Amino acid sequence: MCGIVAVTGYKRAMPLLINGLKKLEYRGYDSAGIAVINSETKKIICNKAEGKLKNLINNVSNIDIKGTVGIGHTRWATHGKPEVKNAHPHIDNSGKVAVVQNGIIENYQELKIKLEKEGIIFNSDTDTEVIPHLIQKELHALSQLELESNGSTLLVAVRNVISDLEGSYALAILWTGAPDSLVVARRQAPLIIGIGEGEFICASDTPAIANLTKIILPLEDEEIALLNPLGIEIYNSNNERQFRNPISLQTSEQVIDKMSFRHYMLKEIYDQPETAKNWLDKFLIKDSDTGQLNINYNFDTKFFESIERIEIVACGTSKHAAMVGSFLLEQFAGIPTNVFYASEFRYSPPPLLPNTLTIGVTQSGETADTIAAINMEIQRRSSMSDEKYKPNLIAITNRVESSIGRKTSNIIDICAGIEIGVAATKTFFAQLLSFYGLAIKFAQVKGSQSEKNINQLISELTNLPLLVEQLLEKHNHSAEKLAHDFFNVKDVIFLGRGINYPIALEGALKLKEISYIHAAGYPAGEMKHGPIALLDKKVPVISIAIPGEVFDKVISNAQEAKARDAFLIGVAPECNGTEIFDHLMPIPSINEWISPLLAIVPLQLLSYHIAAHRGLDVDQPRNLAKSVTVE
Ligand code: AGP
Repeated sequence: MCGIVAVTGYKRAMPLLINGLKKLEYRGYDSAGIAVINSETKKIICNKAEGKLKNLINNVSNIDIKGTVGIGHTRWATHGKPEVKNAHPHIDNSGKVAVVQNGIIENYQELKIKLEKEGIIFNSDTDTEVIPHLIQKELHALSQLELESNGSTLLVAVRNVISDLEGSYALAILWTGAPDSLVVARRQAPLIIGIGEGEFICASDTPAIANLTKIILPLEDEEIALLNPLGIEIYNSNNERQFRNPISLQTSEQVIDKMSFRHYMLKEIYDQPETAKNWLDKFLIKDSDTGQLNINYNFDTKFFESIERIEIVACGTSKHAAMVGSFLLEQFAGIPTNVFYASEFRYSPPPLLPNTLTIGVTQSGETADTIAAINMEIQRRSSMSDEKYKPNLIAITNRVESSIGRKTSNIIDICAGIEIGVAATKTFFAQLLSFYGLAIKFAQVKGSQSEKNINQLISELTNLPLLVEQLLEKHNHSAEKLAHDFFNVKDVIFLGRGINYPIALEGALKLKEISYIHAAGYPAGEMKHGPIALLDKKVPVISIAIPGEVFDKVISNAQEAKARDAFLIGVAPECNGTEIFDHLMPIPSINEWISPLLAIVPLQLLSYHIAAHRGLDVDQPRNLAKSVTVE
């Protein structure tokens, strides 16, 4: 998390930094700050504000900082509360070195104790603050060697310091001794250099760059770069100069309008019919000879043939999409599949098995745990001599140019368009669709389903844009009304079974992350093994009941909750059995296989309206960030 931006060139830095930060606020909004080297005094001018970026913008609105070199930061707090003193940039005791960081310095305590013993005074509770102090110390040591004071000296100092840092970081550093230079460095956290007309701009993510240039140089892991208005020098961890051609940025700067919606989240829920349409247009192709509809993923049939099992790593909502995916891959396509929290997988991976496909699912493409899990899997599999154990990867992401997108050419672009709301909605929906495509592809290649079943599933998918549109029309108002009755509850239980168990988990996650109401999702059959003790008339139970394999079971589990006085809300078609619900959020009678794609919609709307009714900041819920780039 945290977004960093840095600029050097001929234009005024401050507006470029503020503009960049606006595009990075999704990475954290606990505080924001900028530091610029004043071109007349050659001193660092720093301004920071607690809370959202608008507070920093207010602070600096009447200040005219003359300077063309600067750094900026938008923070998601890890070490130290969201207070001004912990906002970045952090500055050393001499006031000559300023640093912004995204990541976590794991050995900062040890470094801090040492620095304090040497008389350094710390002004924050952050892990980052050790860095400017260490750099100043290095610069002081280098000055004894009577080196020239220029950007190269800063580069040497930073290189020496980062070799002592443990953990992950993306850094941008200013030093008054080289007032036109910037040094940037990264380990595990992303950093991209944009080559503008008259400036170089570095940022954690491309949207912060896209309005200035489409020519970029992504910094690779463990690289460090020196930038000044005349050029860029990039070095790897062995201090070897790296030369490579810039690449052009595929994504154009997109200005996303909220239209008439009160929040981006509601707009994005409403974008879902179009998300389905885009996905179908891109990934369903008609065979010109047979008229048969097929999934158009860019991997050859041999790739699918060789796979015997699948492991999926993901976090949060993406993991819920992966769980639906796993159900489809096992139950529809017949491939043994396991889903792992990426954060667990990286420290306790399963034993290596041959002919395994590893799928990383991340809408942002930057989730630190997911990237680390994928890296670990690439590493341990690449070291095997037997071909059968070599890595086979697929990335499912909304950001093909992201860190995960650069790991493999096997990318399924979910094509959901930019999602601004921190709570994932349309990206979840598009991730689900990607798994339907994969399951169909595997079922075809492995012959695990009849052509008739496959065609039926494909044909059900083609109805989605209309079905989702109708659902939105039907539910928005009633979900709002229901929200009026439930906006003050303390706990909500979500139940689902089979393919809809992950939808219960996702419904609960949506509600808690934007409304701050405690919610938990359970496989409906597990209720009686403990969670049922929570139930009384104050705890609504939302049950997803779709006619098919487990319908009767889910209805019985709902009965058990009703017998404990719980208010029962059903997400189900209007059919026999569903009269037990005190309130029904009806969905069309559809094939159970595609039901998750519909069942999630009323749950998203309900969460949204509860949070909106509580007057909360739906698009930027407290303590969260859109892209979680720390462990
Ligand atoms: C979604 O609403 C959440 N805020 C969060 O769980 C998210 O899904 C998770 O952090 C994973 O993000 P990713 O898809 O970008 O990897």
